[in-house]
Formats: sequence, structure tokens, C-alpha cells
Amino acid sequence: MIAHPTGEFRNEKYRPQFHFTPDRNWMNDPNGLLYYKGKYHLFFQHNPQANVWGNMSWGHATSADLYNWHEEPVAIACTPTSGIFSGSAVVDINNTSGFGTTDNPPIVAIYTEHQNDESNQSQCLAFSVDEGATFTKYEGNPVLNINAKNFRDPKVQWIDNQWIMTVALANDFKISFYSSPDLKSWAHLSNFGPAAEVGGVWECPDLIQLGNKWVLLVSLNPGGYQVGSGTQYFIGQWNGREFIADDLQTRWLDYGRDNYAGVTFSNAPEGKKIFLGWMSNWHYAGKAPTDPWRSAMTLPRELSLQGDRIIQTPINHPDGFPEVSFTTQDGAIRICESNERYVEIGVRNQKLYVDTSHAWNDLDAPTLQEIAIEKGEIDIRVIVDRGSVEVFAAGGTVVLTNLVFVETALTSVAPLAGANNLKVAGLQTTPA
Ligand code: FRU
Repeated sequence: MIAHPTGEFRNEKYRPQFHFTPDRNWMNDPNGLLYYKGKYHLFFQHNPQANVWGNMSWGHATSADLYNWHEEPVAIACTPTSGIFSGSAVVDINNTSGFGTTDNPPIVAIYTEHQNDESNQSQCLAFSVDEGATFTKYEGNPVLNINAKNFRDPKVQWIDNQWIMTVALANDFKISFYSSPDLKSWAHLSNFGPAAEVGGVWECPDLIQLGNKWVLLVSLNPGGYQVGSGTQYFIGQWNGREFIADDLQTRWLDYGRDNYAGVTFSNAPEGKKIFLGWMSNWHYAGKAPTDPWRSAMTLPRELSLQGDRIIQTPINHPDGFPEVSFTTQDGAIRICESNERYVEIGVRNQKLYVDTSHAWNDLDAPTLQEIAIEKGEIDIRVIVDRGSVEVFAAGGTVVLTNLVFVETALTSVAPLAGANNLKVAGLQTTPA
């Protein structure tokens, strides 16, 4: 059971034990993911007043290990006429913005200000000179206004001596790139898209260097792999002005229902690319049966590239995970609450599948996910928390993240025929 920093145990029904959740009230996208001076900062889309979307502000939490989070006061608050939508944060080491000093570089948050009357979305700054404890909105806001209604979710990073912003023209299915010397004045460089999946608005992009390639993450809603929200990615090159994809095939980051708007931390130790997503789906997020909070983040995952696939590897939990791993080419396991309520995960007819139809799930969504895989035995790792099951298969190249709301909790594993090399930690093993 986790202890809240106040000392109170957070043991409510469905309260995840090692995924970040706000103590109270609504959360959606991760924002401003940043590492600085020994602390990871997680900001998030938050309604500080209610357990439904609204009053969008940036909540804040800090952690030394990405698992034990301390929730901080709201970092950037909405105004009576506008919301603080998604965005990113950077450490401005050279004080290019002039908001701090080179001895005490500012943390600068770059967010979208959304007018409540839906007349405009533009990009704004807020800065902190006390290591993220408090933020001041820049008096020269907005810093980038193209008079558009759907222009949002800036992800900023320092590449080759300039700031590069990756930002969505949501309803045009385009990602725009801008450059700046100081975070305040921005010049348009290029656009990417429409490409591959365009079944819904494009949101929350991230441009990530993985080895000698660049990867562009694009979340879209609806039009995801199964229903509602999903995240696709493109692999290619960044030439300083534009992203040039190797091809325009569809590649899903996650084949489950519940991994959206995910982006990577800036300034992470050793240049690691650590990803966090919102573990929900706009198709039903507002109906999730949790109280007094709504939504969790996914496990933090390190990203790398193998050929033309992203590999996702969960960052180790200091105390280990409740998890099961096995290999199979035709077999399955069940993660069970009881004989009647379980999630089945396995391979049949050369397809990896996750079947949640026997887990109680009040949400309106399909319950069987299937993905064609290569012939032969594959490895499958399943990490189980209250309210979620995350599956990492084929070396982390095929990932499925799902919310699962059973009656009490998933506590045991039942191997079925064909499940080999079973290893179980933190769960009981029972016959099927
Ligand atoms: C993605 C999103 C973003 C927007 C935010 C608003 O889930 O729609 O595009 O900035 O949520 O809360």
C-alpha cells in the first residue's frame, strides 16, 4: 500500500500502487516532463477543483526514482477565460531567455493557452527560478500566435544550438516545426503531414533522437488502433529544418487502449529517452469508476530503436513489480481475480492477443486486441497494478497497455497449455 506524503495511506478501490495518480481530481496528459538536480518533474493536465475535465491547469509532482511521487501545489493555473493546455518544459542552461542567470538557470515551461470561447490557441511561457517550486507567467505572452483555433501542445528541445518546437496543427493533421534563439521569438521551419493515421485530430507530438535516427511521435484522437485515442510514430531524419520520414507506414506505439499523449522527459540522466503516457482514452476517460481522482500515468518506459520498431522497456521499480513473464508460440496465461474474472494473454494463430472480456469492465470499448507477430516463440512480460495490465512482448517491440477494473484486484496467475518458462513475482500461481 502506498503512503501519501501526508502519511495517509492511499488504498481506495482501484488506486494504483506504483503508477502516478493525483491525490484528488481529474488528470489527463503528462506535461513538462523534466529532470533537474536529482529530481524528475511531472506536470500534468489537471482540474484542481473536480473529478472531470475542466479548469485546465498544470498539476505538479516530483520524484527521485519515477515511482515514489510527491504531489506539489498546482504549478500553472488557468484564468477565468483560458485554460493551460499541454506543453513541455526545459532547463535553459545558457539563460537564453534571460529569465534567470547562468548560475541559476531558469526552468521554462512552454504551454498552449486555450481560450475558453474556442477562438484561439497560442503558445506561452512561464518560468521558475526556484527549481520548479513556483512559476511566473511571462508578461510578453503569447510568444507564438498564428491566429489558429487548433494549434497546440508544444514540445521544445535544444538541438544544434537552437531551440526547436514541435507543435500540432491538430485539425490539419500536421506537425509544425519552429526555431528560436531565446524561447521568445519563433520562426517557422516546416510542416510534416498529413500521413498514415488521420482518423482524428493530431496532438501532443514529440521529436526524439534514438541512435542515428529521429522518431516523431504523434497522438491522435479518435482513430486509435482499437477505439478512441492512440499514438503512432514515424522514423526518419531531422535535418535541422524538417523531419523526413523513411516511409509513411502506420506504426502504433501501443496496441492497447490506454496509452495516450505520451512524451519524453527533457534533460534525463545519461541522455536516456524516458517516456510517460496518460493511461486512459478519451473514448471513456470521464466514466472511469475511480474516486476521488481520475486517471493514472503509464509506467515510465525507456525508449530505444531496433530496426524500424521502438522498444519500450519499463524503468525498474525499486522494489520490483507484481509481474509474470513467459514464452510461447501457441499458449496463454490468465491474470486472475477469480476463476471467472481474469485477463487472458497469449499467442494463437500467429497473433499475440490480450482478452479482457472476462474481466469486469463497465466501459464501452472492445475487449479483444490481436496483433500479427513473426513465427516462433516470443517473450511476454506482464506488469500488473490495481486497475491496469501492461504487456511488453517480443523484446518490448509490441506493447499493450490496458485499464482493467475488476471487482477487487488481480492477484494470481494461471498458466494455460503452451506457456513456457513461466516466472512470477508478487502474484500467486494457481491452476486454471
Ligand atoms: C490531449 C489534449 C491536448 C490538449 C489537452 C487538453 O489529450 O487534447 O491536445 O492540450 O488534452 O486538456
